[in-house]
Amino acid sequence: MTATIHLEKHFPVLLNELVSIISPLYGGTFIDCTFGAGGYSKKILEETSNSVIALDRDSSVKGSALQLYSKYKQRFKFYNIKFSDLDQIKSDNIRGIIFDLGYSLSQISDLDRGISFKSKGILDMRMGLNDFSCDKVISKMSQQNLYKIFKYFGEEKYAKPISKKIEQLRKNKKIKTENLVEIIESIKKNKRGKHVATKIFQALRIFVNNEVSELINGLIKAYNILPIGSVMAVVTFHSIEDKIVKYFFKEYSETKNSSRYLPKSSSNKKYFNVTKRKPITPSFNEIRINHPSRSGKLRFAFKIEDGCNFKNFIEKFSYLREIENLNFDD
Ligand SMILES: C[S@@+](CC[C@H](N)C(=O)[O-])C[C@H]1O[C@@H](n2cnc3c(N)ncnc32)[C@H](O)[C@@H]1O
Repeated sequence: MTATIHLEKHFPVLLNELVSIISPLYGGTFIDCTFGAGGYSKKILEETSNSVIALDRDSSVKGSALQLYSKYKQRFKFYNIKFSDLDQIKSDNIRGIIFDLGYSLSQISDLDRGISFKSKGILDMRMGLNDFSCDKVISKMSQQNLYKIFKYFGEEKYAKPISKKIEQLRKNKKIKTENLVEIIESIKKNKRGKHVATKIFQALRIFVNNEVSELINGLIKAYNILPIGSVMAVVTFHSIEDKIVKYFFKEYSETKNSSRYLPKSSSNKKYFNVTKRKPITPSFNEIRINHPSRSGKLRFAFKIEDGCNFKNFIEKFSYLREIENLNFDD
């Protein structure tokens, strides 16, 4: 039997694997798009020839950023911006851009933020730099829209009865985190493994934080500022994120119509070199020490060509962006 170790600090997921891919030993500037507790940034800065530009939408990480700044001075810069604004970053000699999606332990364990279903009180779920909180979604969104959010972002089988029960209950009282969990528990049977509320909470977090558009825009902008020969690496934690990243690298790294009788079109051009098709996942030992790492998947690619327009990529996931753009007045 394996015991799960309960964590008090954030452990960077797949750190050794990431380091072996981005090879910080050779020196250069790395962009850490998801600074969090700074685990990746710290590791990269251990090599004296490296610089890190770190971003995070959550202003509460500024304390950890300040610590790194006092130690590494001009080799480290931090910006409190979303990675969809990556084009604001200007730098020479970028060797790699990394994303570690999802939530840090401090965000999940801050129960006032209502990110976890273990929280109590007002549903918030904002990571930082948001337009609205989850409370507004649960109290104002129509039942039909809640259903779509739960179905597409949570892949939740019980999206309809859950959204109907929310609509019914909110007529009489404010739905707080614990009430939402009760609603879900009254509809779904508790099975071993994942908590019954996992999918609905995932769906709401994606919606509140615009995670799909953030990721799509972040990946495209990362490609645009990355020099040829440099690497992009992304760690995902749920199937929607992974589907997007997998498509992004695969679609632009393969020569599809490879018949020698057909003219070469620009859509057949390769923009990435993907050396490993399958994602890298945490070892048994890492999962034992850091249980939240169990759903992590690391994918990476080297940029080999400029000029990609990402038309197919944008079209492919437009159905998810439509859900993100659902209106409170519909
Ligand atoms: C899993 S944590 C990163 C942990 C980090 N790699 C470490 O080793 O400590 C993810 C971080 O990304 C940030 N984040 C998520 N989406 C973001 C976005 N669109 N733009 C900027 N930061 C984002 C979150 O606020 C969170 O702090």
